[in-house]
Amino acid sequence: MSASEHFYITTPIYYVNDVPHIGHAYTSIACDVISRFMRLAGRDVKFLTGTDEHGQKVEKSAEKYALPPQEFTDKTSAVFLKMMQTLNISNDDFIRTTEERHKEAVRHFWSKLVESGDIYLGKYAGWYSIRDEAFYSETELTEHGLAPTGAPVEWVEEPSYFFKLSKWQDKLLEYYENHPEFIIPESRRNEVISFVKSGLTDLSVSRTSFSWGIQVPGNEEHVIYVWLDALTNYIAALGYPDKDNQYKKYWPASAHVVGKDILRFHAVYWPAFLMAAGLDLPKSIVAHGWWTNEGQKISKSLGNVIDPFNLVEEFGLDQVRYFLMREVTFGNDGNFSKENLISRNNSELANKIGNLLQRTSSFVFKHCNETVPPVLTSYIDDSYNTPLLLDILSIQQQNIVAMEAFQINKVLDNIIHISEQANIYIDKEAPWTLKNTDIVKMHQVLYNLLESLRFIGIMLQPFVPDSASKILDQLNVPSSKRSFSHLTKEYALKPSSPLMQPSPIFPRFEK
Ligand code: MSP
Repeated sequence: MSASEHFYITTPIYYVNDVPHIGHAYTSIACDVISRFMRLAGRDVKFLTGTDEHGQKVEKSAEKYALPPQEFTDKTSAVFLKMMQTLNISNDDFIRTTEERHKEAVRHFWSKLVESGDIYLGKYAGWYSIRDEAFYSETELTEHGLAPTGAPVEWVEEPSYFFKLSKWQDKLLEYYENHPEFIIPESRRNEVISFVKSGLTDLSVSRTSFSWGIQVPGNEEHVIYVWLDALTNYIAALGYPDKDNQYKKYWPASAHVVGKDILRFHAVYWPAFLMAAGLDLPKSIVAHGWWTNEGQKISKSLGNVIDPFNLVEEFGLDQVRYFLMREVTFGNDGNFSKENLISRNNSELANKIGNLLQRTSSFVFKHCNETVPPVLTSYIDDSYNTPLLLDILSIQQQNIVAMEAFQINKVLDNIIHISEQANIYIDKEAPWTLKNTDIVKMHQVLYNLLESLRFIGIMLQPFVPDSASKILDQLNVPSSKRSFSHLTKEYALKPSSPLMQPSPIFPRFEK
């Protein structure tokens, strides 16, 4: 991937039947971190999120609140928008499936599938789960008659349009084979391949027993299946059916980031629809794991749903963002616990990075006249040849590779490693002793430490944007000099330039 390449990333669009929870927050933060990282790496990023507002599930919720569906979704969608603001999500667009631009795209997409001969009218008789908005065959149900996800199902018999999914089975398998990076991680890729190999049946893509959706062009009795409707958001937001402007620039998407539960829709149905419509396929579908709460599955009936707004209120935004990105290997399941959140923050953000910043900057502030240590300008070359800075420069290269493979937590591992090395360095070089024996050396050691903090500040920006900008403010790094291209000696701190008064950035929590 070249630095100038466009980078289009999406979250799933969230169902508005309920309020946001930690799962929504997690996907949104992960995409935000990737987006911010890619922008710092010089990419032209488009980051899309939004809300999924049609279908039976949402219609039923609106009924429960005795509101017309549109009024209901206006309210609940606004809460998701607010969550994006609260979590400092840097999305470039927020699409709602009730918007006209989306409906127009879906109708056009549908007509393309009709034109290609992939849609026919029939009758659906089978199981449907409203909670999953998914059709299940008899053989997929559990012994208790539930969907494999544990959701209840009901028997549905109604006229329906079908999409010829079976026709695409071999093409899909061929595509997975030729594009190993299409489904990430590998374990999930294998699951999808064996699902497709087990045989695809045609997919019901319209419903007649309720009306909250986009009508099938030319047959108003039917509304388009909510997943076909929802998936189209990814191209609707690029102006599809117009293929000249944003679409041309950003499609195919670089990554659709999704939870493991909705991988099948993205890695099987969506590429089949796209192939049928003659459109390119996204480059990667990246599936992340699920969070449990203190070891238990999160569910409304257990009353253990985690509210992202409360969490941010209690611990602070950057602390929550850091914990969620750091705690699990992206792709694996994770367990949320307040105790772990506190210990991650205390032992890493506060004790490693915060401590390094505090001890270095207060010492410099006091003993170097409130300025960057006055080393000779010619020393900067030597600074960049110390093992500390050489190590950091090679880590930045590894971080780019890791993020391109969506290994978010590996990048954090690396940044923490830098802070550990810098803490070892300060202890070993002991500027507090050099103060009495060798002032020139003391300035050099402190200069190297400040440079390593400048690197840490720049690298931390995607993860903890507010705190990272405070670090860079303290070092007086101009906001126009904070991207990855500024991680070179040309942009090194200027000897004798003023520093800001140090103040603690990462709080320590009581257990
Ligand atoms: N509306 C569909 C997506 C359509 S995309 C074209 C949908 N919405 S959702 O609101 O139910 O889920 C959104 C995301 O939240 C999914 O990626 C799902 O995996 C994620 N999570 C829901 N609960 C979660 C956890 N407990 N942990 C992590 N993520 C989870 O599906």
